[in-house]
This record gives sequence, C-alpha cells and structure tokens, in this order.
Amino acid sequence: MAPLWLSRVLYAVPRKKPMKFAPETGIAQMQDCGPLRTSDWDRLLTGADVWHVSPDALSPESLEHRCLGWLTPQERARRDRFRTDRLRHNYLTTRALCRWVLSRYTGVSPNQWQFVENPYGKPAIAAPVEFQRLRIPAAVNASGRMPLPHEFNSLYFNLTHTEGMVGCAVTRAGEVGLDAEDTSRPVDIEAVAGQVFSAAECECLSSLPAHCRTLRFYEYWVLKEAYLKALGTGLSTPPDQFTITWRDDGQPASLGDWQLALYHPTPRHVAATAVCRPVGAPLPVTWRSADVLA
Ligand SMILES: CC(C)(COP(=O)(O)OP(=O)(O)OC[C@H]1O[C@@H](n2cnc3c(N)ncnc32)[C@H](O)[C@@H]1OP(=O)(O)O)[C@@H](O)C(=O)NCCC(=O)NCCS
Repeated sequence: MAPLWLSRVLYAVPRKKPMKFAPETGIAQMQDCGPLRTSDWDRLLTGADVWHVSPDALSPESLEHRCLGWLTPQERARRDRFRTDRLRHNYLTTRALCRWVLSRYTGVSPNQWQFVENPYGKPAIAAPVEFQRLRIPAAVNASGRMPLPHEFNSLYFNLTHTEGMVGCAVTRAGEVGLDAEDTSRPVDIEAVAGQVFSAAECECLSSLPAHCRTLRFYEYWVLKEAYLKALGTGLSTPPDQFTITWRDDGQPASLGDWQLALYHPTPRHVAATAVCRPVGAPLPVTWRSADVLA
C-alpha cells in the first residue's frame, strides 16, 4: 500500500492529459475556451505563459453576457461595489481572463474555479482540488529519500492590472509573480524611489541621463513588484531591502531562487515576471494575446 503522504500526492496530481478528463471525475468539460492542447499543458512544466488583454479592446456588454456567469457570488458582489462602469468592466476583465486562462490548459469549466488567498492576499487555486498547490510534508522533502518528480507540480498563476492592460501568468514550474505598469502615468521618480528602492538602485537611477530615468524607474518597479508577488508577501517584505542587478545582456539577474525577466508588451507598458527556478535551464516565458476574449 502506498504510504499516506504518497497517496495524498497522487490524489493531488493533475492528469497528464487534461483533454481526457472524464465526466466521472466531476470536472465539467471546458466550454467557451477554444480547443485544448495537451502540448500546452506539458509545456507549462518547463515554461510560463503570460496572457494579456486590454479591457478597452473588449465590449462590456459582450464580456458581461459571456463571462459574468463564471464569477462566484462573492466576486459578483465585489464587482457590484465598484462605483463606475469602467471599474466594474476592468474587474470583470481580470476575473474572466484568469478563469479563461486556467480553463484553457485544463479542460475545467471557467465557472468551476475557486480560489483562496494567503494572509497577504495572493490568490491560489482552491478547487478543483487536482490543481491545488501541493503541500509536500517537509520530512519527505528534507530526507531526500524520495525526490518528487517534477510532474507533481501543480498550477500556479498570478494576475496584474494597470491602465490599459490586464495580465495573467500561468506555469507549472513553481510559484510565479507578475507585474505590469503604465509608463505614461506621471510619477515623482525621486520621491517614490527614495521610499521603496534600495540605495544601490537609487544611485543607479540618478546616474542615468534624465530622458532614460522614467523607463528605468518603471523597470525597477515591476521587477521588484513581480518578485514580491512571487513571494506572495506583498509589501510586508520591505522593497528597499533587496536590490535588482543587471546581467551583461541587459536582463535582470536572478534573485536567489527567483528567475526575473523584463518585458515591454506594448509601447506604453512594462512588465516583469519572477518564477521560482532554483535549478535547471532558464525558464522560457511566452507572452500571448488574449484578444480572443473579445
Ligand atoms: C497588492 C500587491 C501585491 C500588488 O499590488 P499592485 O501592484 O497595486 O497590483 P497588481 O495589479 O499588480 O496586482 C494585483 C493582483 O495581485 C494579486 N495579489 C494580491 N495580493 C498579492 C500578494 N500578496 N502576492 C501576490 N499577488 C497578490 C491579486 O490577484 C490582485 O488582483 P485582484 O485584487 O484583482 O485579485 C502589493 O505588492 C502592493 O500593495 N503593492 C503596492 C505598490 C508598491 O508600493 N510597490 C512597491 C514596489 S517597489
């Protein structure tokens, strides 16, 4: 008989071929999310996808018609509390994108997802249980007797929203953080950097010619925020206590076990990802447009 910890793990393992989910698993077949590809699901073990969409590209009426029914009663209540149509639409876009992305890889119906937040607000999958983040007993990990194959990794995601862009990062490789910012937003660079950047980052920023500073400010910002969001601790980890450094190729260096990457997905936006990648080759991150939601 399998030891208790192993049966827990096996119970939590997503099926290798999500397309073959049978009705008896209790998981509804995916609707409204396009064809499933098992190759995409497999690819998430060693890569991440970031799906992005502009709320402005989506018709509020058709989004509501198609996606409002995916939300839980609590999410609907939260949406109703926003004061303007625009904020309600942005909120629905984020929730719809998240559910659509998770469903696209798994075959789960978009309205079946339930989420739980950690004490700092980071959401994770609560149901269907097959896709919950695994909690491996520490003794098993620490002993090294039975290293777990990486197929046991579950589904990790993180969301970001800023003016003109909503993003959802998804991977099976490990915890992930995503942040995007609208660089056209006016900002008092020196005042803000002095509060949240490390001394080395502030120095680096002030050594740049004035016309480069705004972009580099936002690049630091999204990288630091993506890292904090990957950790899941938000601002309870002081952002001035760690420093982003740069490799020779202009990309950010890893921070401990966290692989960082920087993107310019639109002329107006910068974005960053942080993915837990203690060992192994660099993790490819693919940006994909979710205009299909329109
Ligand atoms: C909440 C926080 C995690 C991100 O806030 P943000 O950059 O304003 O928001 P984003 O749009 O990028 O991300 C928000 C989403 O991240 C997720 N999230 C919330 N708390 C999170 C946490 N602790 N960890 C990871 N993700 C979190 C949620 O899905 C949230 O969206 P929702 O509220 O619609 O569900 C937090 O880091 C914060 O308050 N930051 C303030 C900005 C700041 O001072 N940053 C300093 C960087 S140098």
